[in-house]
Amino acid sequence: MCGIFAYCSYLQERDRKYITDVLTQGLSRLEYRGYDSAGIGIDGDEGEPFMLFKEVGKVAQLRKLISESKVDMTRSFVTQTSMAHTRWATHGQPSRGNCHPHRSDNKNEFIVVHNGIITNYKELKLVLEKRGYHFETETDTEAVAVLCKYVWDSQPTKRLTFTTLIKAVIKELEGSFAFLFKSVHFPSEIVLARRGSPLLIGVKTDKKLKVDFVDVEIAPDSDKLDLLNRETASMLSVPAASNSNIRRTQSRAFLSDDGMPQPIEFFIASDASAVVEHTKRVLYLEDDDIAHIADGELHIHRLRKDDGMSSVRAIETLEIELAEIMKGQFDHFMQKEIYEQPESVVNTMRGRVNFDTRTINLGGLKSYLNVIRRCRRICFIACGTSYHSCVATRAIFEELTEVPINVELASDFLDRRCPIFRDDVCVFVSQSGETADTILSMRYCLERGALCLGVVNTVGSTISRESHCGVHINAGPEIGVASTKAYTSQYIALIMMAVQFSDDRLSKQERRRSIIDGLHDLPSQISRVLKQDKALQQLARDTLAKEKSLLIMGRGYQFATCLEGALKIKEVAYCHCEGILAGELKHGPLALIDEHLPVILIMTQDSLYPKVQSALQQVKARKGQPIVICNDDDDGFSADDRLIRVPKTVDCLQGLVNIIPLQLLSYHLAVMNGVDVDFPRNLAKSVTTE
Ligand code: AGP
Ligand code: GLU
Repeated sequence: MCGIFAYCSYLQERDRKYITDVLTQGLSRLEYRGYDSAGIGIDGDEGEPFMLFKEVGKVAQLRKLISESKVDMTRSFVTQTSMAHTRWATHGQPSRGNCHPHRSDNKNEFIVVHNGIITNYKELKLVLEKRGYHFETETDTEAVAVLCKYVWDSQPTKRLTFTTLIKAVIKELEGSFAFLFKSVHFPSEIVLARRGSPLLIGVKTDKKLKVDFVDVEIAPDSDKLDLLNRETASMLSVPAASNSNIRRTQSRAFLSDDGMPQPIEFFIASDASAVVEHTKRVLYLEDDDIAHIADGELHIHRLRKDDGMSSVRAIETLEIELAEIMKGQFDHFMQKEIYEQPESVVNTMRGRVNFDTRTINLGGLKSYLNVIRRCRRICFIACGTSYHSCVATRAIFEELTEVPINVELASDFLDRRCPIFRDDVCVFVSQSGETADTILSMRYCLERGALCLGVVNTVGSTISRESHCGVHINAGPEIGVASTKAYTSQYIALIMMAVQFSDDRLSKQERRRSIIDGLHDLPSQISRVLKQDKALQQLARDTLAKEKSLLIMGRGYQFATCLEGALKIKEVAYCHCEGILAGELKHGPLALIDEHLPVILIMTQDSLYPKVQSALQQVKARKGQPIVICNDDDDGFSADDRLIRVPKTVDCLQGLVNIIPLQLLSYHLAVMNGVDVDFPRNLAKSVTTE
């Protein structure tokens, strides 16, 4: 969840110092979203149309780099466009080279900043390389910059408009994105495009705008280039400028009374936090909008005509203040991250799960599949929440791969100096990729010749660099110390691995397909559980807020949910909470049960349901009054039972749905107990010491 910011000023004299300050200030406002490096692209001098500044680390370091450069900061511009980016690496480590803006070539003919992932970048890169284009970074984004140049070069008449060119480029792309484009061929112009990643435009003028909306302009449809299939560039079918120059409608908002051009500034950003200090008049782009800013006017086009979208985009007035925007409508990052899950789980699956063919392809593991399939056992090694995602998926790995599975807490694994052999596959799961115990375990396994896989959120982290291969979970930055969205994304990444490892087994095909269908429905099921937030808040307030101790019970797939739910409650609500395997109840914990001890029982419908039912009876027989997490359509309860109902999914995915109410309960308990939710006492987000 990186950030985009751009500043366009028209008929307003601005010097370079001012422009770079606006850009870096914009980036600072987006810092809370999390990032690993930052960069800007500004108008240059004679012979050097654009200047790029890029730095790994914080925006403050980028500021330092700019201030130490020899560039003439007093040079002023009457009209200019400039862009900035904070990167959360998905393809290629955080490095100056991989920082945005990316360029099409060493003359900077096109420069691009991008949020998101282009899933077909490898294919694009291959085609472009075959046609003689060079690449200098490891990112997916660079393929888009080079593609711009390819489309431009392929038009001998060079009569394309900037918008038409970008439309042709966007039509080739798969994945999610928000883009800003600049080009030497279109000085002082900028084109914006989005699909799946947010983008808004703030408008600042002295005079009032004529109307509070911008018309969506309808231009003739251009064909897809079909770059990946066609042999020659000459077959390109982008309409020439003579056609697309015709504006079918005029953006009425920017017409002045006297017909004279008026000074105007545009501030473009991933979210309003970077814009409100300049203007509160903003317009949100929709997916597949292509916005073009030139000569002080904003024009909005659609990627395809007649697609049923509204023909105007409203310019709204933001009522909110900066502080509120940072966490959006949320009070804490933990809450925001819980609510992001319908989206973050999609990002984990994006470009990997094909729901039509019901297949899974994890690019990072492809070339190791043969080794993995021949292994003697698979060891999962992790800490805390990451360990729980391994516990949650152990059974499905055993079922699909029929290989022995060990799940280890990293510290204990090291303490025991667990025997590891060359034919073991060791999987290290870590949100941060920097957890000391997990890193040391990985180094221990590397020394013993085992194949080491990383399942990591942070690209470029130690585990991501030092493992042989792996999967990035792409959950976006997680800021709250309590891990929430990383858990669900790790869980899905591991499920995808289990499916892929076993895709040579015909006997498991039906099972694999049902899992993929289940994954398809998951985002909407998570959303449905989130809708119960108010009821959960009330449950927390009325029933659990005053408690000093709590048990969460379940079995089979739900044991991990119990452990993870209990960890959340412990770490943010400061309430003793234990996750218990219901099968162990009569071996000890039953002694605790009476009418006072609160119990949460996870009783969703899978093959172990009857056994959990008997645990419920045992608790009730001792006057316990458990809160039961059960499926929507389970009618086996009476009116006075306290229930949390959740949608039903495939057994091995049910934990992804069941954990949501527990995350929400822990969050509300923390707020009620006055805890600094995002920074609970004594804990750090990344535990880099043993
Ligand atoms: C989870 O809420 C915790 N803050 C903690 O258990 C965490 O999961 C653990 O420290 C592992 O971190 P990692 O995933 O970054 O390796
Ligand atoms: N996929 C791009 C990269 O890795 C953009 C990541 C981002 O959204 O910051 O560079």
